[in-house]
Amino acid sequence: MNPKRISFFRFAICSLLLLPSFLCVKSYAFERHLWDEGWRFALHNDDKAHETTFDDHAWRVLDLPHDWAIEGDFYALNPSGANGGALPGGIGWYRKHLNLNDNDASSRYVLHFDGAYMNTSVYVNGQLVGVRPYGFISFSYDITPYLKKQGDNVVAVKVDNSKQPNSRWYTGCGIYRHVYLMKSSDIRIEEWGVQALTEVKKGKGKVSLNTKIENPSDRSRRVIVHQTLWNKAHLMVSKASKACQVEANGATISQLLNVNKPQLWSLESPNLYTVTTEIEENGRILDRDTISIGLRNVAFDVKKGFFLNGKNIKINGVCLHGDLGCLGTAINEDALYRQLLMMKDMGVNAIRCSHNPPAPELLNLCDSMGLLVMDEAFDSWMQGKTTYDYSIYFKTWAERDLRDMVLRDRNHPSIILWSIGNEVLEQWNKTKSATVALEDVNILLNNSRDKTLLSTTDTLNASAKLTQFLAAIVRRYDPTRLISAGCNEVSPNNNLFKSGALDVIGFNYHQKKVADVPQNFPGKPFIMTETVSALHTRGYYRMPSDSLYRWPTHKRPFTEPSFMCSSYDNSCAYWGSTHEQTWDIVKHTPYCSGQFIWTGFDYIGEPTPFNFPARSSYFGIVDLAGFPKDVYYLYQSEWTNKPVLHVCPHWNWIEGQAIDLWCYYNQADEVELFINGKSQGVRKKSNEHEYHVAWHVTYEPGEVRVVARKNGKQVNEKTIRTAGAPHHIRLTSNRNVLKANGRSLSFVTVEVVDKEGNLCPWADQNIQFSLTGEGKIAGVDNGSPFSLERFQANSRHAFFGKCMVVVQAGKAPSVIKLTAKGVDLQPQTIEIKSE
Ligand code: GAL
Repeated sequence: MNPKRISFFRFAICSLLLLPSFLCVKSYAFERHLWDEGWRFALHNDDKAHETTFDDHAWRVLDLPHDWAIEGDFYALNPSGANGGALPGGIGWYRKHLNLNDNDASSRYVLHFDGAYMNTSVYVNGQLVGVRPYGFISFSYDITPYLKKQGDNVVAVKVDNSKQPNSRWYTGCGIYRHVYLMKSSDIRIEEWGVQALTEVKKGKGKVSLNTKIENPSDRSRRVIVHQTLWNKAHLMVSKASKACQVEANGATISQLLNVNKPQLWSLESPNLYTVTTEIEENGRILDRDTISIGLRNVAFDVKKGFFLNGKNIKINGVCLHGDLGCLGTAINEDALYRQLLMMKDMGVNAIRCSHNPPAPELLNLCDSMGLLVMDEAFDSWMQGKTTYDYSIYFKTWAERDLRDMVLRDRNHPSIILWSIGNEVLEQWNKTKSATVALEDVNILLNNSRDKTLLSTTDTLNASAKLTQFLAAIVRRYDPTRLISAGCNEVSPNNNLFKSGALDVIGFNYHQKKVADVPQNFPGKPFIMTETVSALHTRGYYRMPSDSLYRWPTHKRPFTEPSFMCSSYDNSCAYWGSTHEQTWDIVKHTPYCSGQFIWTGFDYIGEPTPFNFPARSSYFGIVDLAGFPKDVYYLYQSEWTNKPVLHVCPHWNWIEGQAIDLWCYYNQADEVELFINGKSQGVRKKSNEHEYHVAWHVTYEPGEVRVVARKNGKQVNEKTIRTAGAPHHIRLTSNRNVLKANGRSLSFVTVEVVDKEGNLCPWADQNIQFSLTGEGKIAGVDNGSPFSLERFQANSRHAFFGKCMVVVQAGKAPSVIKLTAKGVDLQPQTIEIKSE
């Protein structure tokens, strides 16, 4: 749900609560509807599909959000290429009817899209309402002039993702985020028109509200703007009302709400307040808007890094792309929550939305879960990175898209930093091809809707001017947050740095250059906007574990028929590092505000260091199916207070084989390893080996036991055993009770185990799923980055002993039974209720 625009149903409940305080209120002129259900869809182009009379009865009926690419097959020749996930693109059409019986001449209808990938054209009753190329931006249209207020209307949306490659990763295709239909009176709160500026000083909070009101009519109107602050217990904290005259071109009104003893928003207690804004005219509420806010103090210090509410904390962040594994990019709150929860459990406290504005749900969850966010606008500016990427649209659309990102997102307390770009080629000074023409930048500046943004420095080159322009847009709409950008040209020669417009210096990689930051960028705070790019395949171990594999090497051609990278922390891209190497620098460099690791989860596309049939990334700390790789426990041991004792690899090898055992632990002075009861020695972390300990042992079947001790007393222990022959399937769901809303999800882990229940680490059986009850299988996966099995299927091979199936509740309460079977394996059934 978009919290800024509450649904009609939530609104109805809120109104009941509000009634006593607004006894004068007589009626409501607005409604908000989630408009996801019952669209018709076809995956082909048809010149007539926008026409009202077009016959779409044979088209498929579906509910949004929807990603058509994830339903397809991986194919080497799909134009997205392996980097785009090797899934299909194309042109898709969506159609939906809107039947109105509205006698109110003053009512207005706004159709809002949280995002559609990409090149969207929206038609109402056969007429083009608008186009929007950028696939990651939210947009709306006032469709009132195109509507018949009595009778049937047809909304048709063309989504064109046929020109590929247009991205360096998988983007999905279609209307992959929520759609809302909003009805209001002609006087209306502008979309994203309530800005809340918060301040906390000496235990007192202030919320300054600037509210923009639209008036499309040609007469001036007198309204009252009521604004109320509610705490999380839904109790009123503060309230202000102001009468104002709304002229024909609209009005902006400012009010102040005081908060005594504010409950601050923090990572541990992400306290949220709600602000409701109502426009009243003669006792009638014409429009209402609700936003969530948080009161907190954010600061970046040149010497000490990042501060939240006066407390110095390291930003322990990860980069995330938008896909949800086998569900594609179709936004689902349960799937996103699961991802963020796993990150939070690992100790992550920040998310970088790489490299585009995220779904609003991500920001809502970060607000409510206590995660910081760096919100990023673009992966390219004028200089493209792929043939059909955003650079084609930049000159025409960048100002609008950047403005809309800031307007939409600026009230989220989780956001602590804006990024205006990732590794944009305009940063480089050396190569001619990467220098933008001053002429082009001047066109952009001259076309700017807002002439106050034009004050760039004459002596600077075009790229630096462009940086100043983009930063000015951000500052104009949000004067409260600092601005950065992810740069892999880390010298002061970088055009973005030279522009002086970046408040926080952001490095992508180049961890060895961190030492030079104070000298190269005096007076500037610093953050590592992107780091590591380690390459791991869950379950696969390349030994000896103490040699580093840096892929791909330029010196020799890279071939590795297994399509796997080691799961020890000994494998990374040549521009990156191991996890330990970078964390060591971040941890011990006080002026480094923190880092965003590339990446928290594997994502579809960019299968570095391989090509097709590899089709998803190896960079994740967690694999695509949601199974943690070993390095997850490195961070958990460093970043959380949870007791951690993790030992790897598994214990199924060839007798006599030399095996390296690694152990991540915390809250202990030493660990001792026993193989079949025989000690293999005590290990302690030291200054040189601060993050893991290891033993080089000879394999014999049986049992590996690690014991952790503090002050001589055992505080933790962990045992792994050699697994026998695969015997049965074990199913474990992350939730046993779902909502019967057609969207709620349960992620079921499927493990092939021996008679005693030990995971069979080499098992790769095909597991077949069947389901009874009101629900469906929404997707299957096993975390393999090179499997060409479909994500939407009723079976999946196990990959290193595991796979995963996503069960989606139907719209009626039910007991859903999921059964998993495999040849020579005892099946298992699990029950999931939806209510
Ligand atoms: C970075 C880039 C990311 C991703 C990563 C892979 O340079 O910003 O989007 O491509 O490399 O290592």
